Amino acid sequence: MKDKEKSKRSYYCGQITSTQIGEVVTVKGWVQRRRDHGGLIFVDLRDRTGIVQLVFNPEENKDIHSEAHSLRSEFVLSIRGEVLARPKETENPDLKTGMVEVKVSELEILNRSEVPPFLIEDDTDAGEDIRLKHRYLDLRRPKLLANFVLRHKVSMAAREYFSSEGFLEVETPMLTKSTPEGARDYLVPSRLNPAHFYALPQSPQIFKQILMVSGFDKYFQIVKCFRDEDLRADRQPEFTQIDAEMSFVDADDVMECMEGLIKNIFKKALDTEVENFPRITYAEAMRRYGLDAPDTRFGLELKDLTSIVADSGFKVFADIATKGGKIAAINAKGCATYSRKDLDDLTALAGTYGGKGLAWVKLNEEKDGDGGWQSPIAKFLSDKEKADIASKLDATVGDLLLFSADTTSVVNTVLGRVRLELGKRLDLIPKEGFNFVWVTDFPLLEYDAEARRHIAIHHPFTAPLDEDMDKLDSAPSEVRSKAYDLVLNGVEIGGGSIRIHTKELQAKLFEKLGISDEEASERFGFLLEALSYGTPPHGGVAFGLDRIVAIMTGSESIRDVIAFPKTQKAYCPMSEAPSVVDKKQMDELFLRTMKKSKE
Ligand code: AMO
Ligand code: AMP
Repeated sequence: MKDKEKSKRSYYCGQITSTQIGEVVTVKGWVQRRRDHGGLIFVDLRDRTGIVQLVFNPEENKDIHSEAHSLRSEFVLSIRGEVLARPKETENPDLKTGMVEVKVSELEILNRSEVPPFLIEDDTDAGEDIRLKHRYLDLRRPKLLANFVLRHKVSMAAREYFSSEGFLEVETPMLTKSTPEGARDYLVPSRLNPAHFYALPQSPQIFKQILMVSGFDKYFQIVKCFRDEDLRADRQPEFTQIDAEMSFVDADDVMECMEGLIKNIFKKALDTEVENFPRITYAEAMRRYGLDAPDTRFGLELKDLTSIVADSGFKVFADIATKGGKIAAINAKGCATYSRKDLDDLTALAGTYGGKGLAWVKLNEEKDGDGGWQSPIAKFLSDKEKADIASKLDATVGDLLLFSADTTSVVNTVLGRVRLELGKRLDLIPKEGFNFVWVTDFPLLEYDAEARRHIAIHHPFTAPLDEDMDKLDSAPSEVRSKAYDLVLNGVEIGGGSIRIHTKELQAKLFEKLGISDEEASERFGFLLEALSYGTPPHGGVAFGLDRIVAIMTGSESIRDVIAFPKTQKAYCPMSEAPSVVDKKQMDELFLRTMKKSKE
């Protein structure tokens, strides 16, 4: 196929349909599969857009047919041939190109391939390690490729929205100083400044605030962030934020603007209208769902029973109530048939979140005046307590009640997690749909018993609610903040806040956080100085792009929407990073490694 015009691709594989019947086309792609049918050889040729069937007929072209025998999976071909309607019995209406095939008259093998270590098909059974090692092959799978097509649309929709709303995209440094998000930093040694290190940014937080000081007014960036933390399905050491900051706004302004962003993303990338962005306060989220990223797609809400069982004969409950703890329960509707093992599994789950037990009650038909209560704790509860519990939990025969008693925070986490598990087991979570909720009024500070001081829940630049300002000295743990998170289907997809914009309040906050003047000026001095030159009121937000795309594509893990992700151990099996470096590089950086001591 030397003729330049003829060898130019006329269509992508997936574009060839009945419209092209009779046309002579040039297509290029990879061999998905070769099937020898005695005389005829069929090859499925694949590219980014799909698959088209090629047919090699020995009676039409002997040489090409015999060359076709040598074709193997993942060989790269350029072919030319006429588009024909498939014989009736071989039509495949499930495939876009399933009504046609290309009768090959010219074949060029552009490249050969080793035998791939796994089948390049959507439902591959290859483990993730081998797939990540050969990520270039993994990414040939249509399902994964489709994730990146969607990811591209999401990024484009975000850029388009921000631009139309007057935001400027500004890049901020990657070699910078430690930022305040509170995870461990990735450090980069400086050759020109021996024994000095840059930190890779955990977010552009400080720089975007400084851009507001500069009068940029509205900023956004789609940006890599780096955090050295323990990894999970929705956490990677490097991930991407859609980051934004605005001046002269309050929390409502930011949330409304970001609802516009989310609507545009879902409309442009999925052609889906998303309308509802209800808001609940952090306090309400914790009370009803036990978690600050509540999955509000189903009920099974937590009910506080502390006042009902405060004087109970069940000592665990009474003691915890006396100590100022919390006793709460959820009603697993219709689960009275759960086996010993089911209950043990749920108790073990409670244990992993710090629960010291998970008392249960099965509500059976009434017999011998036992009220139908089958439970290890029934004998300790009075009739009135039982009646009040049943009424609070809306319990009827057939239900299973699960109790946790501990500090408020342990009870919330335990029942919040048990609730999610029950939601899955009882199939209460809709498979389709996007359920958003803003969680607002987060506490500003949290007491860290180990460090014996308060730490910032969001970051130390978050402003307190005006009406709680006077509690900063008297009851710091009760101060709420102007921070908000956006939660989608029970996953935190974004968070932000209105910032402190006066130097005085910022200094006060540092004092509350036990950050000394020296430490503040060492870590954030440049921001503090900037704040003294006429800083406008401002606030912003950052969304986790990977998490959004993972939910939109129904992916189990954000690794499926990141082209080259890392494993749980922050390792890249393909490039084999991180790796040791040679002595010369270490010397240039004035670095020595220490021998890891054997334990
Ligand atoms: P925050 O720390 O809440 O806020 O991060 C914002 C969003 O980024 C996503 N995210 C992650 N995604 C994948 N892997 C990770 N390791 C990871 N960590 C966070 C989450 C999260 O909601 N500077 C502030 C924002 C602001 O105040 O404007 C910040 O970074 O979806
Ligand atoms: P015990 O009296 O320790 O045998 O516990 C009786 C029941 O109460 C068991 O089902 C325990 O799992 C449960 N239980 C014990 N401590 C707690 C707790 N802190 N919260 C909830 N249930 C508990």
